[in-house]
Amino acid sequence: MKDWTLIGSINDIPRRGARCVMTPQGKIAVFRTMEDQVFAIDDQCPHKGGPLSQGIVHGASVTCPLHSWVISLETGKALGADEGSVKTIEVRLDGDRILARIEQAAMAAE
Ligand code: FES
Repeated sequence: MKDWTLIGSINDIPRRGARCVMTPQGKIAVFRTMEDQVFAIDDQCPHKGGPLSQGIVHGASVTCPLHSWVISLETGKALGADEGSVKTIEVRLDGDRILARIEQAAMAAE
């Protein structure tokens, strides 16, 4: 069953940075934009599995650190000429707290 689960505080993530959280869905990367929006996507680039959490955030996108594909944090889709997508995870803010809609029962904190 999916439920809103506390996965951390926005204060744990630097602006234009990311932090990884382990879930039953795999490792997800939680991003904070310059405007304090929060997004979560799979941490594996759709190209060759690069760690998107280590990429550079600009606007609501991240550039993969390996070969510079640009992935939309909103849709999980590769932008520009590249094709592919990563799974997005619903997240929302409750004050400073970040809640994600993930499988509650098997949630495992990193
Ligand atoms: S693995 Fe991300 S661009 Fe190649």
